[in-house]
Amino acid sequence: MSIVYDAAARTLTLHTRESSYQMQIGPLGYLLHTYYGRRAEGNFGPLHLRKDVGFSPVPHALAEETRGWSPDTMPLELSGANAGDFRTPAVCAAAEDGQRGPDLRYVRHEIRPGKYSLNGLPAAFDPGGEAETLSVTLADESLGLEAELLYAVYESRDIVTRALRLRNTGKGTLTLEKTASCCLDLPFGDWDLLHFHGRHAMERQPERTPVMNGAMRLGSRRVASSHQHNPFAILCGRHTTEDAGDCYGLMLVYSGSFELEAEQDQMGSVRLSAGIQSEGFSWTLRPGESFDAPEALLCFRHDGLNALSQCYHRFLRRCLCRSPFSGALRPVLLNNWEATYFDFNRDKILAIAREARDLGVELLVLDDGWFGRRSDDRSSLGDWFVNEEKLPGGLEPLIRGVKDLGLRFGLWVEPEMVSEDSALYRSHPDWALALPGREPFLSRSQLVLDLSRPEVADWIYETVAGLLRRYDIDYIKWDFNRSLTDLYSPALPPERQGEQAHRCTLGLYSVMERLTAAFPQVLFEGCAGGGGRFDAGILAYFPQIWCSDDTDPIERLTIQRGTCYGYPLSAVGAHVSASPNHQTGRRTPLDTRALVAMAGGFGYELDPGKLSEEEKARIRGQIRRFRKLAPLLREGDLYRLTELDDRRDYEAWQIVSEDRDESLVSLVLTHPRANPRPLHLRLKGLDPAARYRLERLEVFEAYLPEPPEELPELFSGAALLYAGLTLPRMMGDYPGVQLQLRKVED
Ligand code: GLA
Repeated sequence: MSIVYDAAARTLTLHTRESSYQMQIGPLGYLLHTYYGRRAEGNFGPLHLRKDVGFSPVPHALAEETRGWSPDTMPLELSGANAGDFRTPAVCAAAEDGQRGPDLRYVRHEIRPGKYSLNGLPAAFDPGGEAETLSVTLADESLGLEAELLYAVYESRDIVTRALRLRNTGKGTLTLEKTASCCLDLPFGDWDLLHFHGRHAMERQPERTPVMNGAMRLGSRRVASSHQHNPFAILCGRHTTEDAGDCYGLMLVYSGSFELEAEQDQMGSVRLSAGIQSEGFSWTLRPGESFDAPEALLCFRHDGLNALSQCYHRFLRRCLCRSPFSGALRPVLLNNWEATYFDFNRDKILAIAREARDLGVELLVLDDGWFGRRSDDRSSLGDWFVNEEKLPGGLEPLIRGVKDLGLRFGLWVEPEMVSEDSALYRSHPDWALALPGREPFLSRSQLVLDLSRPEVADWIYETVAGLLRRYDIDYIKWDFNRSLTDLYSPALPPERQGEQAHRCTLGLYSVMERLTAAFPQVLFEGCAGGGGRFDAGILAYFPQIWCSDDTDPIERLTIQRGTCYGYPLSAVGAHVSASPNHQTGRRTPLDTRALVAMAGGFGYELDPGKLSEEEKARIRGQIRRFRKLAPLLREGDLYRLTELDDRRDYEAWQIVSEDRDESLVSLVLTHPRANPRPLHLRLKGLDPAARYRLERLEVFEAYLPEPPEELPELFSGAALLYAGLTLPRMMGDYPGVQLQLRKVED
């Protein structure tokens, strides 16, 4: 039993292998959050001493008995509004008479086997049949609002999911103004917030910062999770490292506008909450109707950030992503974008395909530019029929040519968008988002289709389904290249315009749901100008997402590091591109580029016809090596071998198989020094009692000042974990090292 109700103590406790989460039905039915931390038994209610804090109000019915009891100072499981708690509210709602609340109190709870699901929203599932669900209903009777808090406990995975269903149980219409999926009060401790910010081509830069007195708020108003912030953050102890210390993860399964808030209050208590972006949001709830807020995935680990990341990685791979490709080997692909941009024709693509096949590539992806009259980014989005000038005879002869070479075929689409210069826009100008009487904003010369309208969602589904029915397509790259502006829908009445952003996201999910169900054999890769929509909502449908439009491997070290705090390597689209790099102009060794791309869904994004014979031979070797390593890279546990704030000259990471039999260590030297300190790594995750053979040590494209000393061939796990390894000294621009270890059977 992972969920325990203690009727005497009035506690509800959720246990995972390493953590416990407790709430308690307190005075007047307030649902208190009494504990979340390392696994422990007991009643944690008494931890929260009552103290009379000036200016913190006391509920009327308690004033006589306990002057010091205030919702403003107690840890609450779900904070309401206008109800004595001055901290960040999780839920705000208004009644027809303008009364705002809610003031939520416990009504009932239910524990049941299995995992709840949500209406119209992606959510984790329960492949192993281990999940248990707790439903706790709170209500504000005078407002006529019920809040059902849903929890699913995955005991062996150390993940607790949370969701919120709001119901109108009254007689009048309610307007929801804020619906956070989750609020987590941590009354004690000194916390840092580790979050992931950025911009186009520079996504998910990790930033760790002490939680300040007051509220820190991040999120997106772009109706996409965005390049700028990610709906995932970690609250960790001031001294927590990659391998030790308390940390809490909060990940939203949502791809639209979101907000994430961390507030430290007057008493030093921290509240972490996240959900749909409340600015501009409202939702009309008629009597009897309900509203589901997106799911949040919570994880606590006492043993550092690597352990936390590993829990998320395994969970997303196995319990969130429904694609049959999630746990499967993916083909090594070559994408023509950086090879040709818009300048291609059939012969050029077939020539690339031929060269790619000879290198060992398995899937050829035709990127932007194959449709309408598209020869740059100014036209034709929406006209998803073939550009016969570039591809005479259509896609069939090209696909046949690619398939005759023994390759699979993939295609780029951006179906949520429309160009003003397109047949679609000319016939349906009203399908694009715009405010009445105003010219809409353009971004990359394009407009956005109003996915909140069912006929538009149907058209998008039919268009992509039509391509998949008509052509022999194995892979789709689904792009999304601008943020949403001009939020307004003529299809909604005035009082419902605040629903538009969320309705667009729901429309997107409905299309993704239908397409992935109807075409399970197609491998879908998400993309949004690189990683502008890298989130668990997309991953519930698509097993991989193009991580960034920046393919420079040195920039990617940070982008991919930031991404992998929450998301597994199997989700990260990463390609080897040309040098000098098209985004930064930096020159890097070919094998270093491959080493970095192997920390992700491996592929190429260059013109193989421009490679020397020596480079081609290297690429053949890289693909052979990747194929051998693929199961380990996909299923293994990732360890970051460096701390975020180390002043170091390299980035290093390690992957260890679940049974600890195999491991791969990768390092890239980012700053060669004249008189460097020894490159010393202590390894992680190995079995200390086992012996490991150093199967392969390759130093890529480094200038070695002296012949490296031979490393011993056999090590004890303990020696590698506790003493470590010193690697040969390297010089030059961005050399890399990869070493492989295998357990020796005694
Ligand atoms: C986006 C993607 C790129 C490429 C271009 C095509 O920027 O991230 O990979 O597909 O669009 O226009």
